[in-house]
Amino acid sequence: MKKTENMPKHVGIIMDGNGRWAEERGKPRSFGHQVGATTLKELLHYIYDQGIQYVSLYAFSTENFGRDKKEVDFLMNLFVTLFKKELKSLKDLGVKVVFSGRHEPLSDTVWNAMEDLAATTKDGENGILNICLNYGGRYEIVDMTKKVVQKVLDGTLKLEEIDDKVIEDNLYQKLPPLDFVIRTSGEMRISNFMIYQAAYAEFYFPTTYFPDFKGKDFDEAILAFQNRDRRFGKNTKKKPNS
Ligand code: FPP
Repeated sequence: MKKTENMPKHVGIIMDGNGRWAEERGKPRSFGHQVGATTLKELLHYIYDQGIQYVSLYAFSTENFGRDKKEVDFLMNLFVTLFKKELKSLKDLGVKVVFSGRHEPLSDTVWNAMEDLAATTKDGENGILNICLNYGGRYEIVDMTKKVVQKVLDGTLKLEEIDDKVIEDNLYQKLPPLDFVIRTSGEMRISNFMIYQAAYAEFYFPTTYFPDFKGKDFDEAILAFQNRDRRFGKNTKKKPNS
């Protein structure tokens, strides 16, 4: 199904419910992540085929390092496999992959796989996939603040020049604001995901666990988005500053 009007430009996905999906089937949580990864691969192709240009994924939060070491290790290995093999197909779609998050304490193996995928896809012009890995929205604001303050101290930026554009230019990635955030599994929280960029996003919380979230579920999400009345704090549908 190809829809052209009133599509979100930037969609964020919080891929939640992998663990519960597996546990309900009497399987280890890692199985849920594995199936979630397959779902993700198919879903990304489906989404970019709709003409959506920007997708941000919440792959692993800074807080997720507090999980069982076994689960963390499994996820890190899964990311490496995906970045080295599966997601390389994004290059054929013309999708450029970028990452948001902190370096420490990611291993060299994970970091190198991230850098390699970013380099392989760097010339993609049809879309951007922003993968938030070892990511926290508050840390992103902390790291942005340090960059901006450093520029003021260096004398390359004046205090009175700091505005929302400067803030946006110093976040991890230069991306348009999020229009639409989907969090699967019925949880209704943002959980520190791109909190600055989601200021005027519409939210959608399907009860489906992520491994079961397929193209038809995405279509339903888009229909819900298209029925929202986005006012950006005004009483008209005009976008801010437009
Ligand atoms: C949240 O479900 C999911 C994660 C922490 C990992 C998401 C990772 C993937 C889908 C693998 C592929 C991802 C990328 C970006 C390459 P949960 O474990 O919190 O589930 P629960 O809430 O049911 O416990």
